[in-house]
Amino acid sequence: MFDVTEFDVTVFGVSKTDTLSTPVSDHPSGGPMSPLATAPSPATSRARAERAAEPPTAQRVVIRTRAEYEQVLRQLSEASVARHFDAFVDVPWDDPDFQVRKDDPRWVLPAHADPIGAHPWYQALPLERQIEIGLWRQANVLKVGLQFENVLIRAIMQYVFALPNGSPEYRYLSHEATEECHHTQMFQEAVNRIGADVPGMPRALRALAPVLPMLVNSVPVIFFLGILAGEEPIDHTQKEILRAAENLPPVLARVMAIHIAEEARHISFAHEAVKLRAPHLKPISRHLTALVLPLLMRYLCDAIMVPPREFWERFDIPEEVKNDLFWDSPQSQERLQNLFGDVRMLAEQSNLMTRASRKLWRKCKIDGPASRYRSEPPPAFLSAA
Ligand SMILES: [Fe+2]
Ligand SMILES: [Fe+2]
Repeated sequence: MFDVTEFDVTVFGVSKTDTLSTPVSDHPSGGPMSPLATAPSPATSRARAERAAEPPTAQRVVIRTRAEYEQVLRQLSEASVARHFDAFVDVPWDDPDFQVRKDDPRWVLPAHADPIGAHPWYQALPLERQIEIGLWRQANVLKVGLQFENVLIRAIMQYVFALPNGSPEYRYLSHEATEECHHTQMFQEAVNRIGADVPGMPRALRALAPVLPMLVNSVPVIFFLGILAGEEPIDHTQKEILRAAENLPPVLARVMAIHIAEEARHISFAHEAVKLRAPHLKPISRHLTALVLPLLMRYLCDAIMVPPREFWERFDIPEEVKNDLFWDSPQSQERLQNLFGDVRMLAEQSNLMTRASRKLWRKCKIDGPASRYRSEPPPAFLSAA
């Protein structure tokens, strides 16, 4: 029998002290740079001068040298070798406890981590209907996740094609693509076993999927931010579910625990790739990227978190409930803001939080305090703990 405690979340990268998700110091207090740091470049001096003109922020801009960046990539590559998972070895799909049953109340959506699960309309439904919606909802989130991963794998292949011999980026990104292939297999197998014929992303984004990987060479910072926009909401939600989970379906708990463990490395990489490049963008590019960032986060978050049209039609959900859920009620607004604490931290650290972009974060309803460290639990969780 599978024991969920075997997948203690603190082992898998959820804990504050996780070393995979924080592979190097970010020097948030403005402390001394690593001995690997080199003398500041003109771009660095310009970034610092511009930073002085910004309002005070919770996080300081972090200037990464290429040597520091490559050292992180080597650490991440070694971590990928030391701990990795196979979709058909590490998930016991045929274990009796892993079978998906349509009468299993553990598929009811958790109120603490899913806006649908928290809504009185959902909670008033008969149990069988709550389970049916829960199965469809979880399957669709997994499907969107694997579609994002598919785009990322194709972009990685395109990006590494032109890298020079000996590049640490080549090795790390190949590990990441390998892991994402396993995730797509694992997620698709879970969708198949749930048995809901879900579409995943909204139709418009599915139509764009063939061209998105091409962005990686022309606008790498925006592409890496887009990857984060796909990874952060899923990762954050899965951590929220696992942190407070008492009675999850074992198959879902296992898939989420494996994903969170490997995603910690992927998100670390995306943060480092942005921190290496963004502070050195030309002022116009930096300001434009800063403006694109909250729009990208909000658009792609909605693509993941808000179910597609098929969901609302299939379950005949009233319009006012839909509006409440995403994101009109005070609780769902707070939930939306909490998804992006780590990205706000990255925006501050990579000099992408400008006066104008700060207004756009507010307009997109995803403003709020920046995390002090990666994966910092939201205030509501801390006060409940
Ligand atoms: Fe993944
Ligand atoms: Fe990933």
